[in-house]
Amino acid sequence: MMQGKKILLGVTGSIAAYKSLLLVRLLVKEGAEVKVIITPSAKDFVTPLSLATLSKHPVLSDLFEENTWANHVELGRWADLMLIAPLSCNTLAKMAQGICDNLLMATYLSATCPVVTAPAMDEDMWKHPSTQANLARIQEYGNRVIQVERGELASGLYGDGRMAEPGTILDYIKTVIGQKQDLVGKRALVTAGPTYEAIDPVRFIGNHSSGKMGIAIAWELARRGAQVDLVLGPSSLTADYQGVSVHKVTSAEEMYNTSLGIFPAVNIAVMSAAVADFRPVTPAGEKIKKKEDKLILELTRTKDILLALGQQKKQQVLVGFALETTGERAYALDKLKTKNADLIVLNSLNDAGAGFGYDTNKVTIFDRQGGETAYERKPKQQVAADIVDRIVNIMYA
Ligand code: CTP
Repeated sequence: MMQGKKILLGVTGSIAAYKSLLLVRLLVKEGAEVKVIITPSAKDFVTPLSLATLSKHPVLSDLFEENTWANHVELGRWADLMLIAPLSCNTLAKMAQGICDNLLMATYLSATCPVVTAPAMDEDMWKHPSTQANLARIQEYGNRVIQVERGELASGLYGDGRMAEPGTILDYIKTVIGQKQDLVGKRALVTAGPTYEAIDPVRFIGNHSSGKMGIAIAWELARRGAQVDLVLGPSSLTADYQGVSVHKVTSAEEMYNTSLGIFPAVNIAVMSAAVADFRPVTPAGEKIKKKEDKLILELTRTKDILLALGQQKKQQVLVGFALETTGERAYALDKLKTKNADLIVLNSLNDAGAGFGYDTNKVTIFDRQGGETAYERKPKQQVAADIVDRIVNIMYA
């Protein structure tokens, strides 16, 4: 996968710079060609000689070296991927502002390839509002940020801010390189999983949704460059993935409030959650005892998230799901209209290997132009790729 790929590694001034040596070794071992640019302050943490020896290329640092001009435009165009690891607080701020005061920044500003960063800093610096604002801004520009890890920090304190381990960075790069990068700089909202509606403190009304399909969609959107907010109902699955922020919710009401709060900032919204349509009017404060032979629960409608987003929709691409047992086509077409969606993904419970809990799905996608495409039964990750392809087609039509 990495064989022959050209990686430009930027190393900045952080104690985590020592990990860049291991990173170069791992990349070279995988068959990648690595060129390193180091900032002046990074030289206090790691030597250019070690990096040059491991990368088998001279390490570059200055815009002008030995009376020659280091061609940053050429370097930026040479690379298949630029990786800045560790990314210091200072270089992060420069990236957010577009400050061009060294070779690394000049190359970054002229790079046309995907740029991946792995920040490293002390927890207080990491949590500072200016750092968080800068991180948000560089992601808006289309750069990827690998989450920092929690652990012992250079200050001796314990907390967030450690640079991701070289193995984690390598795994991430492999998902970016060679992938379609058609959603860089875009934001997406995905709902997934079931919702639980409380009957009393120990019981609820729920459904069989596992969340697999929605999580696969969130991952596919992130792999292609989008920043994703995944609003996830009670699912036992792990949804963590670079580029995906997970918001855990329990009830339809919580899913509604969280989703509506995020929606105005996104370009894409995919409602794949199996949201309960009804909830108990008044959940009992204490556990209900079995005193009577019958128990009548009064239910009321939950708020329809997809419908509400359809009413608020501006330029966003909105995708809804339909899971039916009868009259599938008519219901799907009706949902397209009533919910003001751009696409409705229909999965029928009558199809083998489709629906709740399976690793595969078989869908038909309906669009606003009256188009109807039936797809083969496939692993959910591939179904997710088909759905995202359709979203991208609408976005760039
Ligand atoms: N949906 C939602 N909020 C709800 C209910 C459903 O966002 N409270 C979304 C689902 O995530 C899915 C789509 O709406 O994308 C399903 O449409 P819906 O009309 O609710 O489907 P059913 O519940 O199957 O509809 P019906 O009551 O017509 O059977």
